[in-house]
Amino acid sequence: MGSVISIVNQKGGVGKTTTAQALAREFAKTNKVLLIDFDGQATLTELMDLNKHFDNEFINEYMSTESIVKIFERASIKPLDITGILKDESGNSIVTINELHFIPSPGNSIVAAAESVSGGKDMLLNKYLQKVKDEYDYVIIDALPSVSTLFRNVLLASDALIVAIQTKTNAIAGANGFLQVLNDVLEDYDKTYNHLFILPTMYNKQRRDDKETLAEIMGSYMTSLKTYTSIGKIPTTLLEEIPDRTVFSNAQAVRYFLQDYIEGFDTGKRDILLLLENIAKVITNKLEVGGK
Ligand SMILES: Nc1ncnc2c1ncn2[C@@H]1O[C@H](COP(=O)(O)OP(=O)(O)O)[C@@H](O)[C@H]1O
Ligand SMILES: [Mg+2]
Repeated sequence: MGSVISIVNQKGGVGKTTTAQALAREFAKTNKVLLIDFDGQATLTELMDLNKHFDNEFINEYMSTESIVKIFERASIKPLDITGILKDESGNSIVTINELHFIPSPGNSIVAAAESVSGGKDMLLNKYLQKVKDEYDYVIIDALPSVSTLFRNVLLASDALIVAIQTKTNAIAGANGFLQVLNDVLEDYDKTYNHLFILPTMYNKQRRDDKETLAEIMGSYMTSLKTYTSIGKIPTTLLEEIPDRTVFSNAQAVRYFLQDYIEGFDTGKRDILLLLENIAKVITNKLEVGGK
């Protein structure tokens, strides 16, 4: 049975989308993965450059008939198979690819759709994923940076969360605010997770600010998790920090997945690939140990 993992934080610009994209690609080397853009800003959808890879008419038709908006009308939708965008005409890929499916974001209409539902609106993503998640090994959700109906849908549909925290001053205050929100939702719905991962992002070891914030995450933040009534019961792991490196935005600028970009054009940055492999391994192990 597939694990639904969401990348969350109610702050924008902390690396959620970048992490979701890179992790989905990592898992998709050997697994069947579904990646969902659940953000009205549709950053991940833009990065996929669907119009370049698919016939325009097909994509327009797909976006209107299979839009994720439909799950708020309690209808089912079919994810888009994007495995082919990672292969050339001969069917070869730079980095191994098994199967990657994608649900794009239609933009802000998703917000309106979620808010307009009457009754039980927080559980609709969960209900949809219960139907499709058995077809996947991993479902990765790129969540939006705000507390809303959409956001509660993400929290309630997930088996595990990755809380992305940028290692900058004030990040901890925001991250603590997030814990309170999360704890309230978990209590209201009597919901828990198999695992909670904390991921420091955009870490610059040259900067004092970053070093202090990382130390705070490792220390007081990890301890404070345990003081929340609902969050405190969840097994928690601090993942290895992702460094602040231009290769992340360089790959996105040319609309490549990080792994394919580095192996194809920037092999000097393979240390980042190893880091991602390790992070994915830790997540897999923890989810297996936790069981389902
Ligand atoms: N580890 C990193 N090092 C350098 N830049 C990064 C890193 N992670 C993300 N970025 C850049 O930071 C910006 C915000 O990242 P993004 O993943 O879109 O954040 P969010 O989804 O939380 O809003 C993007 O331009 C992205 O390319
Ligand atoms: Mg984003």
